[in-house]
Amino acid sequence: MGKVLSVKQTDRKIRQRENSSGNSDSVFISSGGEVPFWMTNIGEDEIATVSETLAKKSFSLGVVTAEMEAEIAQQLDVPYVLCTTSGSMAMLMGLMAASIGSGDEVIVPTRTFVATAHAATILGAKVVLVDCLSENTSMDVNQVAEKITSRTKAIMPVHLNGRACDMTAIRALAKEHRLAVIEDACQGMFSRGPDGYLGTLGDCGCFSFGMVKLVSTGQGGAIVTRDKALYDKLTAIRNHGVADVVSHTYLMPGHNFKFNDIQASIGLWQVRRGPEKAAHVNTVYKRYRDAVAKLPFLEILPVDVDNGEVALWVEAISEERDRLMDFLAARGIQTRKFIPCVHTAPHFDSGERFPNSERFNRIGFNLPCGPDLPLEYVDKTIAVLAEYEQS
Ligand SMILES: Cc1ncc(COP(=O)(O)O)c(C=O)c1O
Repeated sequence: MGKVLSVKQTDRKIRQRENSSGNSDSVFISSGGEVPFWMTNIGEDEIATVSETLAKKSFSLGVVTAEMEAEIAQQLDVPYVLCTTSGSMAMLMGLMAASIGSGDEVIVPTRTFVATAHAATILGAKVVLVDCLSENTSMDVNQVAEKITSRTKAIMPVHLNGRACDMTAIRALAKEHRLAVIEDACQGMFSRGPDGYLGTLGDCGCFSFGMVKLVSTGQGGAIVTRDKALYDKLTAIRNHGVADVVSHTYLMPGHNFKFNDIQASIGLWQVRRGPEKAAHVNTVYKRYRDAVAKLPFLEILPVDVDNGEVALWVEAISEERDRLMDFLAARGIQTRKFIPCVHTAPHFDSGERFPNSERFNRIGFNLPCGPDLPLEYVDKTIAVLAEYEQS
């Protein structure tokens, strides 16, 4: 039997969780506190629908999940949507549907959250890493082309912070070499590139509903596709390979990737308010961008918000990052370092260098942001940044 935690140990664990700002990523967040790194909103609609769902006394994958899926399909103009337990599991499902396994190579940018790479590793595939561009954190498609071999089976473009990868070039490469394209749009829900909504442009696309995402259900995610045959496969994979619950025929290997209606009761409303949330984070982004343009020690990484992209977070770079984060924290403003590159994990470090990604890793951090962050908090942060310049 497992060891039962003492009351003291449990208290400590609760305190640690309280201090983690609801963010499950193991990324350094400065202290601060008056202005948090992230603020999201959970409305009365979510609370009422959760109560109604609980009252039904049946809340596994059911009608509310189906409603949430229909809402995503309509908003993102994509026919097939499956909600699942996380963005990480959505990517795993996408790779399983593409029959990725041992001996296959999957191309992944190193400038992403390690979840993208883990989805391939867990299936026994080899992760082949590529660098990002020098001007922003998007995957360098020229390097993707250079790294394709006869063993390559899939490309995983990651639309970091709502910034579109060059999907035209990626799709052309995939067509030429017969590769699957599984988009990691975990940070890109509601963001549009030149060809449409991010996540709807490859064979399938994956979204995350974690706490620091536009749509949050605590944990959760979705996978979307335009391909009916792929959708049928993904539907089976979500439930241990079962074709349908009536015949209960086992079609293929799968697992329990099922979502539940309690989370969907929150997510349904979060998706309905998606455009409103996207508009607010873009207002926050523009306010910083315009103010910071005058500050020589700081740069906001570009997101094409005027053409449909959604800046989920506000990504800043500064050669003085650590001192600046301390300065802001001492004045009550919380910030977060960039998520470390994949190759900083020992199991992905082959000794290869990725200069552009490493530079962003060293100097990048996120300013306070989020769909519920008051604009006064943005102004306060901007004022403290101006104060830093005088110091
Ligand atoms: C780029 C990227 N990919 C994948 C994930 C994993 O999503 P989840 O936390 O829902 O598993 C995240 C989450 O932060 C992410 O930022």
